[in-house]
Amino acid sequence: MTDTPTLDELLRLRFDDAPQDVAGGADTSHWHSIANHQSCRLYEDRPVRPELVQQLCALALSSPTKSDLQQRDIIIVSDPDKRATINDLFPGSPWIAGAPVFLIFCGNNRRLRQIHERHGHPFENDHLDAFFNAAVDAGIALSAFTLAADAAGLGTCPISTIRDYLETINALLELPNWVFPVAGMTLGWPARTPRINLRLPLAATVHTDTYNEAAQWDAIKAYNARRAELRPYGSQRDPDRFGTRDPYTWSEDKARQYAEPQRTDFGDYIRAKGFSLS
Ligand SMILES: Cc1cc2nc3c(=O)[nH]c(=O)nc-3n(C[C@H](O)[C@H](O)[C@H](O)COP(=O)(O)O)c2cc1C
Repeated sequence: MTDTPTLDELLRLRFDDAPQDVAGGADTSHWHSIANHQSCRLYEDRPVRPELVQQLCALALSSPTKSDLQQRDIIIVSDPDKRATINDLFPGSPWIAGAPVFLIFCGNNRRLRQIHERHGHPFENDHLDAFFNAAVDAGIALSAFTLAADAAGLGTCPISTIRDYLETINALLELPNWVFPVAGMTLGWPARTPRINLRLPLAATVHTDTYNEAAQWDAIKAYNARRAELRPYGSQRDPDRFGTRDPYTWSEDKARQYAEPQRTDFGDYIRAKGFSLS
């Protein structure tokens, strides 16, 4: 690959089976920025102008939202004491403390319920969908934020581990009922050019007409081999429990990751926020 890879080179590297040369002469600079996305975990010691952060929030919230309900909010954590509290939770993730900006994307089903109350209409959708729609809306905004930041030459890294500390985050941000954190986000000027991550081949993840797993295991096998060659893991997860493997593959890493319970309190937290989840 060249130093300044083209759109087709980026997609071929990432997926192996991505179609080539389909732009038909269209301006692909936006696609190039999306294809070149990579999470950033090292930032320059340089501030990001608050107006630029606000602009990125505006772009993030320009993304689609279910039924125009707008059930996602962004909290910019600017208070140094609050930042310090968050930073201290993650000594193993120094990109959180090192990022000039930290935000938290929240699902918000509260505003809609308040609107119902004001208008005197019953809220008759108090079931799992209420939580799900707000969570999806927040995820869509989070994605749009990362892509807008990328296009401005900024770097981001979503941070779901904030949900390992629900009570701390909840108290720190004073989240009321029906407002819940989906993920944090670091933002800053990248201090190095990260390498783009590979994705599963489209043969495994894009289906036509019916869901079909026929190509899945061959695709995962090929992906494991490509990743082990081009993006080998620096360390193996929990070798005391699982031993070491050579090659250490993506699927082995993922199977180890969820062999440990994580965030088993999340359901209780969301129910305590007022969601019925039935
Ligand atoms: C919802 C979400 C939560 C994430 N949480 C974390 C996190 O807590 N810590 C972290 O370092 N990266 C986190 N990431 C970044 C992923 O690890 C990263 O997107 C993935 O490894 C693919 O790499 P890439 O974004 O560079 O392509 C998160 C990404 C998403 C979308």
